[in-house]
Amino acid sequence: MQWAGLIASGAAVLDVAAGGGRHSRFLAGRGHKVTAVDRDISAIAADPDIESIQADLEDGSPWPLAGRRFGAIVVTNYLHRPLFPRLIDSLEAGGVLLYETFMEGNERFGRPTNPDFLLKEGELLDVVRGRFAVTAYEARLISEPKMAMVQRIAARLSR
Ligand SMILES: C[S@@+](CC[C@H](N)C(=O)[O-])C[C@H]1O[C@@H](n2cnc3c(N)ncnc32)[C@H](O)[C@@H]1O
Repeated sequence: MQWAGLIASGAAVLDVAAGGGRHSRFLAGRGHKVTAVDRDISAIAADPDIESIQADLEDGSPWPLAGRRFGAIVVTNYLHRPLFPRLIDSLEAGGVLLYETFMEGNERFGRPTNPDFLLKEGELLDVVRGRFAVTAYEARLISEPKMAMVQRIAARLSR
């Protein structure tokens, strides 16, 4: 919500691992054409304001959005490192990446504890380095909705 204003008016948005669709709905409400992808789209499939695509993003299937580009990509509380190049390739020049998920140190507070699902120190900065202009980056302890260690980035793909 804090960085939604970075997204160009009317731009198409991709919500990856959209889950219940909280970000998809929020961004559709701001006038964006939202595509949501998740292996479980039961919470969003009936929403006429969201294009929902059911896909397992980790089973080796082809990328379900091949050939499509978006003005913004949102990923929250989800990490599958092999997708990073796909996400960047799916952004239009000038497109915005909004990414937030758990990082190392979260083990102290609860799940996820598996290192596969925890960003390493500075990892989101490494993902965008050299290709994006970073508007905001945080790596810190949060207390709401629960105690957790998270990284957050808002960055724009250079033209
Ligand atoms: C913790 S939820 C986050 C949902 C949403 N981004 C949010 O923050 O409210 C993680 C989501 O990742 C999805 N997910 C997990 N593994 C997946 C996979 N292999 N392919 C596609 N989606 C997956 C789950 O179905 C779930 O909706």
